[in-house]
Amino acid sequence: MNPAKLLLNTLLFFQFSQISTSIDTISLSQPIKDGDVIVSSRKIYALGFFSPGNSVKRYVGIWYNQISQLTLLWVANRNNPINDTSGVLSVNIQGNLVLHERNQSTVPVWQANISEASAGNTVAQLLDTGNLVLVRNDTGETLWQSFDHPTDTVLPNMRFGWDKRTGLNRYVTAWKSPDDPGSGNFSFTLDLAGFPQPLLYKDDVKLWRAGPWTGQRFSGTPEMTRTFIFNITYIDNQDEVYLCDGLNDLSTIARMILNETGFLQRFTWNNRDRRWIGYWTAPAERCDYYGHCGPNSNCNLNLTDGFECTCLPGFEPKYPKEWFLRDGSGGCKRKQGTSTCQKGEGFIKLERMKLPDTSVAANVDMNLGLKACEEKCLSNCSCVAYASASAETNRGIGCLMYHGDLNDTRKYTNAGQDLFVRANAAELGKIKRRLALIIVAIVLGVILLGLCFFFLRRRLATRIGERKRQRRRELLFLNSSTRFSEREASISTKGNKEIRKVDVTFFELSTLLAATDNFSTSNKLGQGGFGPVYKGKLSNGQEIAVKRLSTTSGQGIEELKNEVLLIAKLQHRNLVKLLGCCLEEDENMLIYEFMPNKSLDYFIFDESRKQLLDWKKRFDIILGIARGVLYLHQDSRLRIIHRDLKASNILLDEKMNPRISDFGTARVFGGEEILAITKRVVGT
Ligand SMILES: *[C@@H]1O[C@H](CO)[C@@H](O)[C@H](O)[C@H]1NC(C)=O
Ligand SMILES: *[C@@H]1O[C@H](CO)[C@@H](O)[C@H](O)[C@H]1NC(C)=O
Ligand SMILES: *[C@@H]1O[C@H](CO)[C@@H](O)[C@H](O)[C@H]1NC(C)=O
Ligand SMILES: *[C@@H]1O[C@H](CO)[C@@H](O)[C@H](O)[C@H]1NC(C)=O
Ligand SMILES: *[C@@H]1O[C@H](CO)[C@@H](O)[C@H](O)[C@H]1NC(C)=O
Ligand SMILES: *[C@@H]1O[C@H](CO)[C@@H](O)[C@H](O)[C@H]1NC(C)=O
Ligand SMILES: *[C@@H]1O[C@H](CO)[C@@H](O)[C@H](O)[C@H]1NC(C)=O
Ligand SMILES: *[C@@H]1O[C@H](CO)[C@@H](O)[C@H](O)[C@H]1NC(C)=O
Ligand SMILES: *[C@@H]1O[C@H](CO)[C@@H](O)[C@H](O)[C@H]1NC(C)=O
Ligand SMILES: *[C@@H]1O[C@H](CO)[C@@H](O)[C@H](O)[C@H]1NC(C)=O
Repeated sequence: MNPAKLLLNTLLFFQFSQISTSIDTISLSQPIKDGDVIVSSRKIYALGFFSPGNSVKRYVGIWYNQISQLTLLWVANRNNPINDTSGVLSVNIQGNLVLHERNQSTVPVWQANISEASAGNTVAQLLDTGNLVLVRNDTGETLWQSFDHPTDTVLPNMRFGWDKRTGLNRYVTAWKSPDDPGSGNFSFTLDLAGFPQPLLYKDDVKLWRAGPWTGQRFSGTPEMTRTFIFNITYIDNQDEVYLCDGLNDLSTIARMILNETGFLQRFTWNNRDRRWIGYWTAPAERCDYYGHCGPNSNCNLNLTDGFECTCLPGFEPKYPKEWFLRDGSGGCKRKQGTSTCQKGEGFIKLERMKLPDTSVAANVDMNLGLKACEEKCLSNCSCVAYASASAETNRGIGCLMYHGDLNDTRKYTNAGQDLFVRANAAELGKIKRRLALIIVAIVLGVILLGLCFFFLRRRLATRIGERKRQRRRELLFLNSSTRFSEREASISTKGNKEIRKVDVTFFELSTLLAATDNFSTSNKLGQGGFGPVYKGKLSNGQEIAVKRLSTTSGQGIEELKNEVLLIAKLQHRNLVKLLGCCLEEDENMLIYEFMPNKSLDYFIFDESRKQLLDWKKRFDIILGIARGVLYLHQDSRLRIIHRDLKASNILLDEKMNPRISDFGTARVFGGEEILAITKRVVGT
């Protein structure tokens, strides 16, 4: 902008705001000249003279009054600028709104064409919707309005489309350039041919198609949802067909513009950042451009090989070479040697589609449901496809049938609707075969997976199953041992409850059978009052001693639990270590570490073997036993009286260290005797 013009504009702006802010009308007695501005009553819109961009020409236009960055919404004399600032906009004595250069004697530069003159009884008013209306002063009848003659902008509440009675078409044409609001080469109009659909043209070439209305939105504008900024109304009756954006939030400032480079853009004004936010534009993707893949093809941006064009079912590329070189614009033709209207025809459903161009060979029957639509289409040989004409309404009634080429379809990722394309028996068979193949593949896959799973399971079964069983046994064990733990708590000086946490390994019966060679007599170490003890060897090489409580011994599981829980809690190098237990079937077994040197009685009561124990060794053994007893009586967390301490219960490990064993599975911790610890002495 040159400085002189800037200064001029500033001065003019200053002047308007000083003088004429309260006026929103132009009348016979109240024309406006270049420099004057009228402002709508709530001061939202302003009308006056302006020069766009770097131009010095003068135009009359409407802009946002409260937005400092000049945003033109409408231009009166877009193709007839005034060369200087001598312009005057007035209502003449015929009642017409006219724009003159210099003075009123010359031919008007621009005028609002009203059908009948109303002889001075009219007044032009700028409304708070941004509409400039010319109304009869007496009747209030609107004779003319700027909303019927939009420039490049569609405002909320403006009707975009046709008044069929008068033949009025409200459509937008882009500016030539930012400096020239003259009618450019791009236009956006509601095309009435066939089934109505908004179309963006460059001259008379289709650039982008919004597609037919499908109940909630146009087929090609999937982003128009219910929660869109607008409450969109689409009317199609014998008088009118139009689209109207009602604002959901009246404080929103929004507009749609067809810009000079041929893009539709929607903006809202962000008052905090003081700028326009563009939130929608069309065309946006390759597949949006009209006929990007030519006739009878499908444009899909989500194909793995990166080429978006595919032929519709039953079609093949018209120009295979170009197609191969990834130029899809030639489109597709029906496959060689095939024709429609043969036996066994049906439809192939394509999902999430933009409906094909309805402008040439489509007809609609708003009384047919989808099923009837299919029948009707099938019965007419020229019908190549059908779709619901109101897929998004509740009733879904409305049948759209196509004849001739299917132009400009595309596939959406998560929008669009079903399109049913006529296909011959071979094509349908292919789909069926493919389906069958897929099913077979899935079944095979499932079987394979099943087998894999089965084998894996079998391999894991031992481990997993063991862990599970262990847990189950623990639970069982714990549940049946409440009595014990209560008792335990009562004897524990500190009321220790930790006893409930079992720290015992549960052995599988099969493991023990293997380890002891089926409890063979050769492995038998000895026989106690409660049952035999066997030597065993686990698969990892560890040697164990298995005390197998005989079922006839009359010693129950309670006693065994006593021992298990007690020894599990006790850890001392002079106590025999319990490795675990086994409670399976009828077997109750305790598993200890194996003591290779048997027990003390084996040595001291045998004439020859007693020689092996010298005094030092004997002293050490005595000390060890005393340490163990001290631990049981005082140092362990539980106070335990062994009550059956005898040479046969002192086992000797490989270094001849004594280990106290046999915690009186039956007699020592028998029932109520526990409570008599300090009163009565029992045992050996
Ligand atoms: C404005 O000036 C151009 C030439 O610069 C001329 O052709 C045109 O007629 C003028 N317009 C008016 C309205 O006088
Ligand atoms: C209109 O302008 C022309 C040229 O400037 C002038 O000759 C004429 O007198 C003017 N007419 C009126 C009514 O002012
Ligand atoms: C009014 O009618 C004239 C002549 O028919 C035409 O040239 C002009 O463009 C029309 N103006 C508008 C605003 O429609
Ligand atoms: C409207 O018309 C009446 C009489 O017809 C007139 O008195 C009044 O001034 C006119 N109002 C405007 C704004 O022109
Ligand atoms: C508009 O079309 C005309 C002729 O069709 C061409 O000369 C002109 O360059 C085009 N303008 C733009 C902005 O494309
Ligand atoms: C949307 O527009 C319709 C028709 O104009 C109207 O009945 C409805 O109340 C509007 N809804 C909202 C939320 O503005
Ligand atoms: C027109 O809109 C497109 C798409 O939003 C944008 O890339 C382009 O810059 C715009 N052109 C102008 C002149 O604003
Ligand atoms: C392609 O489709 C997948 C899944 O259907 C989706 O996650 C992805 O976003 C799509 N890609 C494009 C470019 O649409
Ligand atoms: C098939 O549909 C076309 C287009 O609507 C129509 O012209 C033609 O008469 C129909 N043919 C039959 C046999 O109904
Ligand atoms: C489809 O497009 C081709 C040109 O690409 C045109 O000749 C044909 O008439 C169109 N058909 C329909 C039904 O729109």
